[in-house]
Amino acid sequence: MRPGPGGTIMCGIVGYTGLHQASPILVSGLRRLEYRGYDSAGVAAVEDDRLEVRKRAGRVRALEELLDEMPLHARCGISHTRWATHGPASDRNAHPHLGGRGGRMTVALVHNGVIENHVALRRELEAEGFLFQSQTDTEVIAHLVARELEKADDPFLAVRRALPRLEGTYGLGVVCAGHPGVVVGARFGSPLVVGVGDSEHLLASDAVAIAPHTARVAYLQDGEVVRLTPQDFQIQHLEKGPITPRIDRIDWKPDAVELGGHAHYMLKEIREQPETVTDACRGRLIRAEGTAHFGGLNLSPRQLRRVRRVVFAACGTSWHAAMVGEYLIERLADLPVEVEYASEFRYRNAPLDDRTLVFVLSQSGETADTLGALREARRRGHPTLAIVNTVGSTIAREADGGIYLHAGPEVGVASTKAFSAQVVVLAMLALHLGRLRHLSFPDGMAVLEAIESVPALMGEVLKTEAKIDEAAALMTQARNALYLGRDIHFPVALEGALKLKEISYLHAEGYPTAEMKHGPIALVDRETPCVFVAPKGSLHAKTLSNVEEVKARHGTIIGVGTEGDEGLASLSDIFLPIPEAPEVIQPLLAVVPLQLLAYHVARRRGCDIDKPRNLAKSVTVE
Ligand code: G6P
Repeated sequence: MRPGPGGTIMCGIVGYTGLHQASPILVSGLRRLEYRGYDSAGVAAVEDDRLEVRKRAGRVRALEELLDEMPLHARCGISHTRWATHGPASDRNAHPHLGGRGGRMTVALVHNGVIENHVALRRELEAEGFLFQSQTDTEVIAHLVARELEKADDPFLAVRRALPRLEGTYGLGVVCAGHPGVVVGARFGSPLVVGVGDSEHLLASDAVAIAPHTARVAYLQDGEVVRLTPQDFQIQHLEKGPITPRIDRIDWKPDAVELGGHAHYMLKEIREQPETVTDACRGRLIRAEGTAHFGGLNLSPRQLRRVRRVVFAACGTSWHAAMVGEYLIERLADLPVEVEYASEFRYRNAPLDDRTLVFVLSQSGETADTLGALREARRRGHPTLAIVNTVGSTIAREADGGIYLHAGPEVGVASTKAFSAQVVVLAMLALHLGRLRHLSFPDGMAVLEAIESVPALMGEVLKTEAKIDEAAALMTQARNALYLGRDIHFPVALEGALKLKEISYLHAEGYPTAEMKHGPIALVDRETPCVFVAPKGSLHAKTLSNVEEVKARHGTIIGVGTEGDEGLASLSDIFLPIPEAPEVIQPLLAVVPLQLLAYHVARRRGCDIDKPRNLAKSVTVE
């Protein structure tokens, strides 16, 4: 079992045990986690021998209405906001989940993270008489704990005994019937923090949730399980035994942290991309075979080998990600790929034969044009696949198969982390298709290792934010900007230009670098910044001559290139380095400075970054 660095399947957990009524504290904690995005919410409380659960699809408001109708009276409980990953947002799939059998439910549990072996565990537990109510991966944990509780009526021990069966990541909150006043928590790859109060203790996936109650916190580490009562708390490591907790003080004001300390959702989402990529790859890279695999494609290797052409249909940022996919699939799988604007595809007489695979890409899974393209392809009898972030969305439901991004909710209207998740999924798809064709094991392995290195390298790029802000200062007064890139970096240039347009309202155009001389060069003057996306690669020398052409016309040059590239650095007014990396993953690194550049230009121009004018996060009209 390998933990992720804190997982971004961003559900929220709150737990409370103390002298006060738990329900209002648990719900107000959820309110403070709302900024993360979620699609259902729930509370469980334990008083005497009774477990009571209230949960609802939708907003925390809907849960509050339910609690008004059916109040909970208890001084101990857990609560959760869920963002659907396994199974759509519904009352049933909302957490907490109950565990037990024979009509006696003894465990209520909330979970953040992903359990990879839930299918096998579910089969095992069903055979033993545990009845499942939901489609979630979480419910297996509730039943596993209940099974242990039958053997020894000790919640702390039962959780510790159940956990070794899990493969995947978790942050957990648990209460058990007959144990009022006891909350158990556990962490592996998904954060959890204990709040230490006077005659009360709290548990949360983020200190933001409990900051109004106490500034004294103990952060759990992977492998640690905690037992909270009003008077005290104990931590045990699954392998190392009892742990002496370290109490930290949170030094920010509870009100300043609704965005987890970031100024905007967009910035937060840009910065969490290393984790986004980790989450998108989790369980999908197969070292032993030098390939990637996906659970939900619903096509056999034989069917995939028959494919002779791939068509991608998408809009906006998803369309740019698809274009990176085009270069990757052509390169690694030797398959012709076409990328279509979904809005165009649905009304064209596009010839599709029976060996064409149609993919749609959408962060939201609700974009009307993309849905229209999917329906048109289906109407014509083609198997349709979707690459989607939002589980249970319309596109996810209507496609014959597909791949989820597992990027967590994206709140910023300008898409950032969803792009990275899409590109890394497409890189894995290209690897998968390549390995079914000519790509050798060593070549496949090299791609796999390159993909594995992305999160750490992205982290390096994020450290250069101050330099990127200097570049933003150069662009703030401009009226036009050109973004230039070639080959696999052409779509990255398009995406950089789109980001700038969306949030700073500066006009920007993306172009293939060499195409510049056929028109856009006429725009170049001192006032027009040119952003060259030019990491070292096969066409690097040619790109440098294009940079020279702009230099000769006194254009301002911002070069995004490989660390140590003196040639590009000396031609650039500002050089933004990315680490040396194989070409197939360079787009994932090069896009980060462009996102931050757009962000800081918009910030400097005083724009409303998370609510750009005229734009919507999800466009459900044609
Ligand atoms: C809207 C958003 C864009 C997004 C596009 C496609 O235009 O403002 O940021 O890229 O829709 O959205 P999707 O959810 O289908 O990826």
